[in-house]
Amino acid sequence: MRAFCSSANLGPGYDIVGLALNAFHDIVEVELVKGDGRAEVVDVRGPYSNSIPLGERNSAAEAARAALKLAEQRLDAKIRIWKGVPPRRGLGSSGASAAATVRAIDILLGGVLKDEELVKAASEGERISSGSAHPDNVAPSLFGGLVVIGREVLKFKPDFEFLLAIPWIDVPENKTEYMRNLIPKEVPLDKFSKHCLHLSHLMLGIALNDARIFGEGMNYSFIDECRSRSIPGFDELRRRALENGALGVSISGAGPSILILCEDCPRVSRVLRDEFKRIGVPATILEASPA
Ligand code: HSE
Repeated sequence: MRAFCSSANLGPGYDIVGLALNAFHDIVEVELVKGDGRAEVVDVRGPYSNSIPLGERNSAAEAARAALKLAEQRLDAKIRIWKGVPPRRGLGSSGASAAATVRAIDILLGGVLKDEELVKAASEGERISSGSAHPDNVAPSLFGGLVVIGREVLKFKPDFEFLLAIPWIDVPENKTEYMRNLIPKEVPLDKFSKHCLHLSHLMLGIALNDARIFGEGMNYSFIDECRSRSIPGFDELRRRALENGALGVSISGAGPSILILCEDCPRVSRVLRDEFKRIGVPATILEASPA
């Protein structure tokens, strides 16, 4: 089973909007044997194989146990992973392994889980890897395209093109938890209002499949405002991208990668490459489409 990487939040859609992108993917094989709901990863290969520990304490095994429990199956899962999504870059690496695992189990069981249950099970994998069961990476990795997650799972296939800028900077071991702790529990009313305005643009852009409105939505989020100082050069990179024709710029998930919506991606890519060079931060810049 293959699952693509994902970019969560898209600016103001914190924990409720995520987008699967064709830049990286994981491949997972699951074998179900008689048992009592245990799950373990028995093999990890691929370029980022050292990011997922063997055994029972990892996002894929946690998600598998949750799926088997929801499906009320007395079976054990043996999981093999080819790990192609780089970890701790804000690209939903643990979410991709969890999503592929849950999807594979559901297929083996004959498609017994509802969409909301697939998301719930895969999100349990996120709890162990980041301390919170946020669904906005696993849902796009499960269903593809752009997903808005509430009581229902709403799926869209926007016709937009993106760049992913991936800075290879050091990040804390518990990066997502660390980045979530940067967000204060209370939001000043003027910022709340601005955040809601941009979230409205994001939703309208999705509904109308309009890249300009969607990009305007990406361009402000209270969450990104709180987190951006932890990404070297973020404000300047965003400014340069926007003045060179990008339509929207946001932190990808909990960062440090940056998601850029553009019409002329090669032009914006050149500008960002120069800017990363100027500030001395090694980075990869990739074109990526909704997967
Ligand atoms: N919505 C989550 C966050 C995504 O921003 O913390 C983490 O990948």
